[in-house]
Parts: sequence; C-alpha cells; structure tokens
Amino acid sequence: MTEMSAFIRGMPKTELHMHIEGSLEPELMFALARRNGVKLRWETPEALRAAYRFSDLQSFLDLYFEGCRVLMHEVDFYDVTAAYLRKAHEHGIVRAELFMGPQSFTSRGVSIDCVMNGVLRAMDDAKRERGISSGLMVSAHRHRTEGDALELLDQVMPWSDRILAIGMGGAEIGNPPSKFKSFFRECRGRGFRTTIHAGEASYVREAVELLEVDRIDHGNSCLADHGLARELAHRRIALTVCPLSNLRLNVVRSLRDHPLRAMMDAGLLATVNSDDPPYFDGYVSENLIECQRALQLSQEDIVRVVRNGFEAAFITEEERHRFLTAVDTYVGHA
Ligand code: ADE
Ligand code: ZN
Repeated sequence: MTEMSAFIRGMPKTELHMHIEGSLEPELMFALARRNGVKLRWETPEALRAAYRFSDLQSFLDLYFEGCRVLMHEVDFYDVTAAYLRKAHEHGIVRAELFMGPQSFTSRGVSIDCVMNGVLRAMDDAKRERGISSGLMVSAHRHRTEGDALELLDQVMPWSDRILAIGMGGAEIGNPPSKFKSFFRECRGRGFRTTIHAGEASYVREAVELLEVDRIDHGNSCLADHGLARELAHRRIALTVCPLSNLRLNVVRSLRDHPLRAMMDAGLLATVNSDDPPYFDGYVSENLIECQRALQLSQEDIVRVVRNGFEAAFITEEERHRFLTAVDTYVGHA
C-alpha cells in the first residue's frame, strides 16, 4: 500500500450514498440463496462477480434487482447490513448514511417490518459493538408510480423517528424529478429530509427547484448549467458523487475525465461515496484512492473532500464538530 493509500484508508470518513441491497458481496448472496432455497443463474460467486460488466445504469439495475431476490427474512436484512457496516468500519468509515429500497421486497410479499427491523437492528448493534454511527434513508423507485411512492411513505411511518431521509433511485430515463413533485412535498410536509438521484443538469435543476431536496445523489452534469452550479455552491447543497460507479456504468470513459476536481474547484460541496461497492469494485477508500491517482489530487484535496462528507452528513452540529475534530487530529498526526 502506498503512503497516500494508507493515509486515505486510515482517515475517519463518511459514506453518504450506498444502497444496502447493493452491498451484497457475491459470497453472501450465494450463502443467502442457499439458506432461502433461491436458485441463482450462476454456479459460483466467482462466476457472478465475472458478470459485473455493465454497459449502462439499466444493465446494472437488472442484475441488482435480480440479486435482491435472496433477501427474504428479517435475518437476511440484518446480515447484509451488518456485513456492510463491518467492512465500512475496517475502511475507516465513522458515519454511514445508507439507502434501502423496500419496494423491491414488499412487491414480492416480504413484510415492511422484516426490512426495517432487520436493517435498524444491525445498525444499532454496529453502533454498540464497533462505535460506527449510521442511519437509514428509505429510497423509493422512480420507475414505479408516484402512488407507489406515497404508499411506501405510509408504510414506513411507524419508523419515522428512525429515518434520516427519504431518497429516490432506479431508472432515470423517462422518470424525471417532476414526476414526483407531490410525493416530495408530502415527505417534506411530514418532516423528512429528502435526496434524489440526478445525473443530467436538467434533472438536478428540477430536483432543486421543484422538489427542494437537501442533497443530490451524483449530480455529475451540474457544471454544464452555470447558474445551477452557482446556486448549489451558494446553498451548500451537497452532491454525493460515486466515481467508480460512474466509471463502471460508462457515465465517464476514464476517471481522468471525472468532474470531481472541477466540482471542488467550483466550490461545490462534493463528497465521495461507493453506491454499490461489490458491483463497482470499490468501497469509499478505493473510490478516493483511484480519484487521487487519476485526478492528481493533493493530500489537501483529499482532506477537503473528506471534510465535505461530514459537512454534508445529516447529523447534529455537535456530532459534526466531533467528527471534524477527529479528522483534524488524524491529519495533524499523519
Ligand atoms: N440503485 C442502486 N444504485 C443506483 C444507482 N446508481 N442509480 C439509481 N438507482 C440505484
Ligand atoms: Zn445510488
């Protein structure tokens, strides 16, 4: 490991954009498939891993939703969340804000209680056993209807005090933020923070102006709209950028073309995250390490992007101060 890689790996960091269902390592997917009597199309975890070659978002989502079939019982949701948090802790993540999209499961007859209780219990145990702080963001599917999203919102209300935010992912093409204006108004009205995946500048603009979201997931093309970029910078609306996801889904041809550095230069609150780590072959540390190499980021740049994560996190000011002090102490001793 190079000195810079070790520095990145050991630094206290956030993860603000990671889908719990997308954190299933092939070995765990096979173990759960066996436990639940689910037949997979691949013979071995290695064969499954070799299938992780995507042409675009949809080709990834097809495989991702297929993988979701192995999650059936509360213990499965517990196990996948616990496994991720264990790994995140090893990678220096001290604050993890994680998406889970219950519609993949409730539409197949899995109860919402199984999903929510399994995930939340794993988060509580990880806090107690490892000290890692985490929170759940419930994610709705944009390729389903607004009515479906509103139904999901009603279903999760019993856990409202345990939900950090409501987000939205899934197939973007043809499903603009404007399709969910009433849903987001309802979420905000019920006191939830909100985020939405948005890549194209026009979708980012809609998300900010029509949906009034608190964070944008990805936001890659926002620099194409100068007025929008200025507004994002001015209002400190964070972007949860996922460089290796962008590379593997052909959003960028090479990490050298990634807009992360330009976002930082434009004064945007850009953060680095993993999205779906096994599918895109990297946790937060690898995302930072590969970006540092490709974009020639200095140690100062890395510290800034890591600090941005804590600035953008949905935590109290007291927690923010404590985490940022830990970063300063780490850098001071590095
Ligand atoms: N669900 C999981 N990962 C996603 C992504 N990158 N975009 C949209 N939906 C997702
Ligand atoms: Zn995502």
